Amino acid sequence: MLSKRVQTLSESITIAISSLAKEMKANGEDVISLSAGEPDFDTPKAIKDAAIEAMRKGCGKYTPIPGTNEVLKAIAIKLKRDNNLEYKPSQIITNVGAKHSLFNIIQCLIDEGDEVLIPAPYWVSYPEMTKYASGIPVILNTDESNGFKITAKQLKKAITTKTKLLMLNSPSNPCGTVYTKEDLLELAEVLKGTNIFIASDEIYEKVNYSGNFCATASVSKDMFKRTITINGLSKCGAMPGWRFGYMASANDELNKAVRKLQSQSTSNISSITQAGAIPALLGEVDDEIENMLKSYRERRDYLFKELNNIKGLKTLNPDGAFYLFINCKEIEEDSMKFCKRMLEEIKVATVPGVAFGLEGYFRVSFATDLESIKIATQRLQKFINNY
Ligand SMILES: Cc1ncc(COP(=O)(O)O)c(C=O)c1O
Repeated sequence: MLSKRVQTLSESITIAISSLAKEMKANGEDVISLSAGEPDFDTPKAIKDAAIEAMRKGCGKYTPIPGTNEVLKAIAIKLKRDNNLEYKPSQIITNVGAKHSLFNIIQCLIDEGDEVLIPAPYWVSYPEMTKYASGIPVILNTDESNGFKITAKQLKKAITTKTKLLMLNSPSNPCGTVYTKEDLLELAEVLKGTNIFIASDEIYEKVNYSGNFCATASVSKDMFKRTITINGLSKCGAMPGWRFGYMASANDELNKAVRKLQSQSTSNISSITQAGAIPALLGEVDDEIENMLKSYRERRDYLFKELNNIKGLKTLNPDGAFYLFINCKEIEEDSMKFCKRMLEEIKVATVPGVAFGLEGYFRVSFATDLESIKIATQRLQKFINNY
């Protein structure tokens, strides 16, 4: 009955685990969820006020497909101010979260048999979206010893005549890897003279502890042309449920195609969300974002120290995002088995590395209060002692 296309899709393991943890909690079980990829902070007041004000003024009509002039201008200002990127408002499209931006881009660029280069560990949706577009995910395995970054040499080796798109995610989920300007320039050198696009997923941009984030499109003129910049406010604006993402590209043919696809699927994103996003894009909640970052840093430093003290666990200190990707190979290679037992025996929800394309690891999210993180760490210590 179902289309072959939809049958190629797997369910998101991360969403499945966080839903199970929520269900167990609702049933009265003492579950601590370190699985969710959403900030534990409430959306800043200025964002809510702007949305309420827009509703009062009667913003309930359809907006243009890519977004209102005001929101597109605010995104252009943000991209110039924060990332030194000169996009015209007409080169920007708002989408129902960055996930939707990525989905649209892949649908518009990828034909049957086209290859999409995906560094692993990867965000769970990249290979699935590629398969849904009949493309071929080509996984580039990275190494912990290299901070989970792909190298120029590796990229060069992976390119074929079928390569259409490279997915880059910096800061990354699940490893917190940040590609510096130098890293990006090395990759840029390999891509010179090719027709390969880059989808640069920068959704964790402001959750950056070392200040080393660099927008992919900003490193050279050539990279500006081939890169589609993807960002949003789910993580950095603490508004995941509002569904605000956007893409910006210098390629007007692609922009036109995405607008067409969106006109036949979702139309514009919520007009209320667009209005709420404007203060965040204009930097009016930067102090609150800075405070969130302080909390994330404190939790990251705590976990980094405590987890590395548990015999058999090993983790890098991430430069960005709010996850630790922990090596548990000495204890268990089968990450699904490990995380399942952890949830059943000590009621701590984490995500197995296999969901991100790498066995022998698990992901812990620290977008949860420090108190819960401390209790979860104590439970984990006991769990490992008894494993
Ligand atoms: C790397 C990455 N990209 C994109 C998204 C999707 O974000 P949004 O909520 O804007 O759709 C997520 C969410 O978890 C993510 O981790």
